[in-house]
Amino acid sequence: MSVRRLADEAIQPATFAFTKANQAWAEKKMAEYPPGRQQSAVIPVLFRAQEQEGWISRAIIEAVANLLSMPYIRVLEVATFYTQFQLKPVGTVAHVQVCGTTPCMLRGAEDLRHVCERKISHSAFEVTPDGKFSWEEVECLGACVNAPLVMIGSDTYEDLTPESLETILDKFAAGKGAEVKPGPQVGRQYGAAEGGQTTLLEKPTAKRTYKPFPPPPEPAPASAAAAPAPAPSAAATEPTAPGRKRKTTEETAPALKSPSPEKMSTATAEAERKAVDAAAKADGKPNKAMREDATGAESPAGKIDAGKAPGKPRGKKGDT
Ligand code: FES
Repeated sequence: MSVRRLADEAIQPATFAFTKANQAWAEKKMAEYPPGRQQSAVIPVLFRAQEQEGWISRAIIEAVANLLSMPYIRVLEVATFYTQFQLKPVGTVAHVQVCGTTPCMLRGAEDLRHVCERKISHSAFEVTPDGKFSWEEVECLGACVNAPLVMIGSDTYEDLTPESLETILDKFAAGKGAEVKPGPQVGRQYGAAEGGQTTLLEKPTAKRTYKPFPPPPEPAPASAAAAPAPAPSAAATEPTAPGRKRKTTEETAPALKSPSPEKMSTATAEAERKAVDAAAKADGKPNKAMREDATGAESPAGKIDAGKAPGKPRGKKGDT
């Protein structure tokens, strides 16, 4: 594959402008994208410019970038990345792109290239004296299953032999390119097996069957829900079978047997904590209520955030 650079400055046109119809088309295309996303139209708009001029010049890149409010470099990146964009003048009737990647190479791409060298020009990108034909080798065109193939314009011509490619080129030269059906040239259907279908040969017979979900079980009567828990039974200590729920009883959950006599209310605990805090602040000494040997030097809080807890807003300078 050749290095993709803009054409020599000597052949670069000074300016570019869409025709009125193409300008309207480009604006309509841009309007298909959400506001602020018009740059997504860069590929179709570049293509339209190429269809109008035959190739992508520096002036086109700058005009498209201005139209879509994009940096020039972004449009240049797109134009130089895709081999579908021609960066120099090519044949006006057909620019033949021969896929030379492995599957096509294994299936005869080399022979197709020789046809192009013989019928068009010995060198890639060399336009015929009448300006009508040129060719180049490109990387995978995405239809490897029907290798080898070439692309002319926006169409691929697949399952080629040197003879069938010659026939196609002759048709284009005679002005009958539109008569050549794009796609496989061996009668296969798209990417299906050559010689016809080999799978899904039976007529579908399956019938749709509809089985409604069973209704949910009736809820238990209220009196049963309020009934006292059943006495511990042997079943409570039995291993539970997978998928079966064990009943919650005093045997399976001992905490239910009796509440802790030392249980303290939250309010009482909070009041005790506040009292201890107040006592510690009163004499300025470490709070030993929770730990006898506390010295007050263990906490790193004084080293962090000037003693403020992380996450709390800092006070003004000078606050203590
Ligand atoms: S290798 Fe030729 S189309 Fe993919």
